[in-house]
Amino acid sequence: MNRTKIIAGNWKMNTTVERGLSLTKEIEGIVKDEVTNDAEIILCPPFVTLASMTRLLQGNSRIQVGAQNCHQKERGAYTGSINCEMIKDTGATYVIVGHSERRQYAHEGNGLLAEKIDLTLKYGLKPIYCFGETQVERKSGEFVKVISRQISESLFHLSQEAFSKLVLAYEPVWAIGTGETATPEQANEIHAMVREQIKQKYDINTAERVRILYGGSVKPNNAQELFQQPDIDGGLIGGAALDARSFVEIIKQA
Ligand code: 13P
Repeated sequence: MNRTKIIAGNWKMNTTVERGLSLTKEIEGIVKDEVTNDAEIILCPPFVTLASMTRLLQGNSRIQVGAQNCHQKERGAYTGSINCEMIKDTGATYVIVGHSERRQYAHEGNGLLAEKIDLTLKYGLKPIYCFGETQVERKSGEFVKVISRQISESLFHLSQEAFSKLVLAYEPVWAIGTGETATPEQANEIHAMVREQIKQKYDINTAERVRILYGGSVKPNNAQELFQQPDIDGGLIGGAALDARSFVEIIKQA
């Protein structure tokens, strides 16, 4: 199955609007000059940068814009929150849902993430749904069960048609920001396992079409061997996405 790779940068809580726009211009420039593959490129800056970033990129189909989170309710008295309608209104097309930092610090669970998935789809946004185990879950051997519940409890209420709009991202928590990466084989094993779970629930076409990204200390020097694995369809990049040169070097490996 030939799946177009995706390289997405998750800037997390970094960059002001000004810095974000200059980083975007820098990335766009190097991509134009140097990237020859057809990978989809997505930048996920903080909320406050979304609208100006989509304006800056207007007419450039190569780089798409995504939010890092959305609220699980449509609108109302939720002070400080941002809903899917507002994200859509900025011109962004993707939303990261269920990042491990949201699961950990905002205590977001699989049920609540299912609500977020529904709203992103309702507003025509494409979710990048993150899943992955902690170090303790990996060591105890619980990780297979944990991951399979993250997939089934947040996603398996969807119709086959709705499911086909998703992008998934496997991010083992122990590999995020630590410099420790899952080995390409370790990561591919999980991707293949999740693909099999999707095949059991839906069908082989749905399983083979869905793109599953890997995230967790992806750098220019390890990206290629990860992206060469048969079930790894690109990366969700944290730290290395904040440097234009490193990010583009990763895109080139896709
Ligand atoms: P790092 O690439 O900094 O490990 O972050 C990965 C991540 O969490 C992307 O969402």
